[in-house]
Amino acid sequence: MPKGKRKKGAHDLHRVERTLRSRLDELTALYEVSKSITSAVNLDKMLSLIVSKVASIMKAEVCMIHLINKGDLRLRTSYGITARLAELKNPLPVDHTVVDQVIRTKMPVRVEDLQKHSKNIFFHVARKGRLHSLLIVPLIEKGELIGVLSVMSKRRAAYSISDEKELTLFASQAAVAIENARLFEEVRINYLNTMRLLACVIDAKDTYTEDHSERVMRSALAIADYLSLSAKQRSVIRYASLLHDIGKIGIDMSVLRKPTTLSKEEWRQMKQHPKIGADIIKRAGFLDDLVPAILYHHVKYSGGGYPITKKTKEDLPVEARVLAVADAYEAMVTDRPYRRRMTKDQAIAELKRCSGSQFDPKVVNALLRYLTNT
Ligand SMILES: [Fe+2]
Repeated sequence: MPKGKRKKGAHDLHRVERTLRSRLDELTALYEVSKSITSAVNLDKMLSLIVSKVASIMKAEVCMIHLINKGDLRLRTSYGITARLAELKNPLPVDHTVVDQVIRTKMPVRVEDLQKHSKNIFFHVARKGRLHSLLIVPLIEKGELIGVLSVMSKRRAAYSISDEKELTLFASQAAVAIENARLFEEVRINYLNTMRLLACVIDAKDTYTEDHSERVMRSALAIADYLSLSAKQRSVIRYASLLHDIGKIGIDMSVLRKPTTLSKEEWRQMKQHPKIGADIIKRAGFLDDLVPAILYHHVKYSGGGYPITKKTKEDLPVEARVLAVADAYEAMVTDRPYRRRMTKDQAIAELKRCSGSQFDPKVVNALLRYLTNT
């Protein structure tokens, strides 16, 4: 073979090898993303992860996910595009040629130069963002279209048929994960609403206003933020706040609503409510994480309170220490049958007085910082 041809053959071989290697890298990267998204259950976090990773792997300036919501294709998350630009076409008109094509055929659509297609749905976005190429792939779960994933690039004809196939394959895995997370989110919202309803029932039986538990939850979550607690701890605090007094279901109404000081026997009964609450929660079977916070929300930081326990200070779960402070503050600033409410300043003074004895000083400090900033 002549030297020139041999050189060209070697050059071609290198080019093919480079293309194959880059293709393999892209596939590996997409596979890694699909593995990590299936372990994420928070829908928003998962979608953000998908758009940023896909944009980087597909070398796209813009990546968007639209999900079907009440018959509309609504933008759920985007990467590389300003909110104003992204809102230009939101929701996507489902009767538009391009969108309709994806919906009808459940097949990808690839445009080499958007700037030449003034009737394309993304024409204005492309012009403002100086984008040229577009690739839209369907998100299909159990044969149903649940949304579309689109990438846009400043390069002309940036996407090949191989890109289209790879992104379609990735989208089929992403769709399963998205749908699972969406269902999980739905269950979580229903669950939280049930908790709220239950909290109202508890508050109605007691002499508090009907939103006492909600208010305790808000203060407790604010404390959790100032203490930089983890997502898991925040979740326990959220539900335990709503349900902390559920044990009052087992206390006589005459005791709960007594406008004068409780007798020794009535106090003995009243002190049972954390234990009764913890027992109820244990029986639910899937709320075990909440048990310590509910059981110990009346235990004092330096010892004492109820129920009797050897746990003090750092041995007490942080969720219980947070709940104790939030509950006490909300009780102080609320009218009770036997006393009028305190002012915010009086309640703050009382929290400071009891800091280090009844309450964890770090938790009190966190609430004080929150109260001075609101
Ligand atoms: Fe309580």
